[in-house]
Amino acid sequence: MDEVTVSDDGPVRVVRMNRPNKKNALTFAMYDAMATGIEGAQQDPALRCILLAGSPTDFCAGNDIENFVQTANDDGVLRTPVIRFLHALARGEKPLVAAVQGNAVGIGTTMLLHCDHVVASSQARLATPFVGLGILPEAGSTLIAPRLMGHARAFSLLVMGRPMNAEDAKSAGLINLVVAPDAVDAEAIKAAREIAALPPHGVLAARKLLRGSRDDVLKRMHEENSLFQARLRTEEARGAFEAFLSRKH
Ligand code: COA
Repeated sequence: MDEVTVSDDGPVRVVRMNRPNKKNALTFAMYDAMATGIEGAQQDPALRCILLAGSPTDFCAGNDIENFVQTANDDGVLRTPVIRFLHALARGEKPLVAAVQGNAVGIGTTMLLHCDHVVASSQARLATPFVGLGILPEAGSTLIAPRLMGHARAFSLLVMGRPMNAEDAKSAGLINLVVAPDAVDAEAIKAAREIAALPPHGVLAARKLLRGSRDDVLKRMHEENSLFQARLRTEEARGAFEAFLSRKH
């Protein structure tokens, strides 16, 4: 079974995380497949919008923690697929819509900051426990989140690691629409088709203006990644990863 599926629904490219037994925690192969889906859509004029989605009960549990351990044991350098995915988010010009079910943890939440329209289940829970795990917020979140929701809410989410429910995330400006769990995919595809039906050049030009400087985001990602890599190999981070992987359920 593919852990990421990429399919086209008319003008909408659907990139779906599909590793439900691990709550869609992202492996290197999944980052690569998602980056390929996003990058490929940029080249195809028939595709006008990209929908990021998960499985019926989970959006994404963040980076696979075993991969973090592997990276820390290796050289501590974030692997190319991760960087490639982050750059695909920052560099991509086509609108991104997200359909969020259940948990969106770590990059599961920070990727939403690159989206233009987010539909979430009333049961969705967004969390970024980076600092508690001994690491740091990434994906340009330290730049985009305070601009979007103000410093206080960004600090609570990204530094204190306090989760947001769907309504909190909506009032923070991160989510557009909160619907019943069984309506998430349909509402998200509806929004994606609505965007895809607009004059494409106008959408791209307006989106570019609204999103602001891509170079600033890439520069911040670079800064975040350097600090993140330095933290990955610390005892604090290793201890936190080990605690998660060895916990009893
Ligand atoms: N990396 C690796 N494996 C993960 C994972 C991750 N980020 N998130 C979940 N999993 C695995 C669990 O280890 C478990 O595997 P197992 O069944 O082989 O033991 C399986 O997915 C199911 O997870 P579980 O924790 O039992 O599900 P839950 O519904 O109780 O909780 C989450 C779901 C997402 C809240 C919880 O799994 C979690 O907190 N995951 C870690 C999130 C995280 O810290 N990500 C990194 C952010 S930087």
